[in-house]
Amino acid sequence: MTKPSILVTRAVFPEVIDRLAQYFDVDSNQQDVALDGAALRQRLAGKSGVLANAADRIDGELVAGLPALRAVCNMAVGYNNLDVPALTAAGIVATNTPDVLTETTADFGWALLMATARRVTESEHWLRAGKWERWSYDMFLGMDLYRSTLGILGMGRIGQALARRAAGFGMSVLYHNRSRLPEETERALNARYVSKTELLAQSDHLLLVLPYSAQSHHSIGAAELAQMKPSATLVNLARGGVVDDAALAVALRERRIFAAGLDVFEGEPQVHPGLLTVPNVVLTPHIASASEKTRRAMADLAADNLIAALNAGPQAGRPPSLINPEVMAHRR
Ligand code: DGY
Repeated sequence: MTKPSILVTRAVFPEVIDRLAQYFDVDSNQQDVALDGAALRQRLAGKSGVLANAADRIDGELVAGLPALRAVCNMAVGYNNLDVPALTAAGIVATNTPDVLTETTADFGWALLMATARRVTESEHWLRAGKWERWSYDMFLGMDLYRSTLGILGMGRIGQALARRAAGFGMSVLYHNRSRLPEETERALNARYVSKTELLAQSDHLLLVLPYSAQSHHSIGAAELAQMKPSATLVNLARGGVVDDAALAVALRERRIFAAGLDVFEGEPQVHPGLLTVPNVVLTPHIASASEKTRRAMADLAADNLIAALNAGPQAGRPPSLINPEVMAHRR
């Protein structure tokens, strides 16, 4: 019997390719050549499934020309790269990789927050440049985390994992979310629901962990930055586009907020040039989930999803992390 064909759009752990090859005829991109729109379309022709990356845009127009495609499995929890309604309408199963990356991403968010508030990278660059001649009392004064007010915009799994970390620092936690958490969860997290306006005004440190969508585009722009404390720090772990990076660069240059830590950018891997020239920002290349163990778990889960979605393997039929369960009634 011929195996269904699949595409793995970017390089991934070789063991994952080997596992997929037990079930599928695998077209893999282990050279990690970026597949732009036309190349992606061409490589997807005739494929039954795809193990995709958060940077692969898979929309209605693309899938309209791919009648054989039955499953799109993202190796990311975020899936703003997928046009889910279009996939559902076409009968295509869509999956992501939630849970396995929650704690690793929250750990990194904490590292970014601490590096930002305590000026870790700025002082290191200064030291490496040979500028350290003597100690002085006011060298690189930063902002404390302990007993400060932490604001969290987007209180899903990762937001809640961050709130749990705040307890160890004696912080007060405020949050804003599309929907309010049940009271017992708020109590367990010691987190108080507030309006977005209050969140902006009260937070000493503001963490962004909300999903990107047309509604959350530029949730933090010039107007929101103007409502924050001049001593506040802002950390974006969510997606580029949640913050207006041009407005943020201006606010940082003019010291309207104290500092920012950014793991995600509008139009990444491009970074707004204004952000590259201000000292009070810590910049990392979208690595919040990048621990050895977690990236393996994400790749394994994406592969499990693909194997199940194409009716192979022990879990045939129902992928473990289905984004569009309503597709099951009319899937291709
Ligand atoms: C995710 O899982 O959404 C991370 O941001 C990696 O893309």
